[in-house]
Amino acid sequence: MAIVLASIDRNETSRMYHITLSDKSVLRFPYVWLRDNCRCADCFDPSSRYRTCRVIKLDADIIPVSEEIANDGKTLQIKWPELHTSCFPVSWLVQMKFSESAPEWIDPFRYPKHLWGAEMKDMIPTFQYDDILNSDQTLYDWLQAMVTYGFSIIKKAPTECNTIDKLGNRVFFLKQTHYGKVSQVISQADYTSLGFTNKSLVLHADMPYMEHSPGIELLHCVQQSAIGGDNQFTDVFNCAEKLKQSHPEYYKILTMLLVDFTDWGVPKDKDKVTHNYDDHHFRSRKPTLELLPDGRLKAINHSDLTRAPYFRVPVDQVQLWYKAYTSLNALMNSPENMIQVKLDSGEIACFDNQRLAHGRTAYKIAEAGKSRHMESGYIDWDQATSRMRVIRERQGEDPV
Ligand SMILES: [Fe+2]
Ligand SMILES: [Zn+2]
Repeated sequence: MAIVLASIDRNETSRMYHITLSDKSVLRFPYVWLRDNCRCADCFDPSSRYRTCRVIKLDADIIPVSEEIANDGKTLQIKWPELHTSCFPVSWLVQMKFSESAPEWIDPFRYPKHLWGAEMKDMIPTFQYDDILNSDQTLYDWLQAMVTYGFSIIKKAPTECNTIDKLGNRVFFLKQTHYGKVSQVISQADYTSLGFTNKSLVLHADMPYMEHSPGIELLHCVQQSAIGGDNQFTDVFNCAEKLKQSHPEYYKILTMLLVDFTDWGVPKDKDKVTHNYDDHHFRSRKPTLELLPDGRLKAINHSDLTRAPYFRVPVDQVQLWYKAYTSLNALMNSPENMIQVKLDSGEIACFDNQRLAHGRTAYKIAEAGKSRHMESGYIDWDQATSRMRVIRERQGEDPV
């Protein structure tokens, strides 16, 4: 049975309504919030769903003239001193209730995460490429796995270039970077990124030198090398939590001191084989462990490849920072926290670039022209979480 409005009381001291619903629950709504969120045609544009009333005209001390329960308890009608009337559907007010524990589905980015170590090797969330392309539910489940575990493998993808562009379009679109939308990761004699060699790569996140570094990375194996070329992944959030327990002072300094990152280069003509980028010079300054305002981990900013030599912090804190940083790296590289995966042709490793660190073992370049070929691209979290909400809404869930 639909919840309706049973009674309504004013509390002039706190300038709030106390609304009792038919299920006996009580919700409180400040007067000024109700005035700010009037749904009438003057205050709210239903086509764009934008608020159009002007906050500059809003009186934070406003007190309504009167209120009325209408439409068999389904509507709350409020008259305001400026001869303005607001009508609120009770079902809408229920969705808007003020609460610290508001439903989290509207914010998948802040869903609880399942942190993992080496045991992930036997529980990797795995999806089939065609299922993601054809089923909204599978697309949702894959993105949910990315939110929860920050890692998954997609199997049976085509072994052609630009497969991940198609996958990106299925979500929304791939992120454009200075490497283009998709970069072909092959070994070159001359290079501006170590990624484009057959050398090993230490654990790192991509592009922390950007203010807004990429969210999800997609690494598509077009062709694997016979020897080497394994990928390594570590859940740095898991390592950070372990460090917080064992050395809280290390954790703290890694969340506080800002580290400089830089990447700059002038592309050479032959770079156009793998990517198509212009002269660039990126710089950013971020803590290794970045926190949300509520203190939870938001993102890692970790790459020794692009960490700048200049480090603009109080000089007497530098050694403690190195102790903390090397301890975190020891955890990240420990066999109990890291997994190693050798992708096959047609497999796509998907990982949260703001949570995991990834690396690679060196590989052998084949003489017969059949060398390792990966392609990589990114989907930002905004696009991924938008797709999740749209799927839920299409399945009938009310957008809040
Ligand atoms: Fe990378
Ligand atoms: Zn209005």
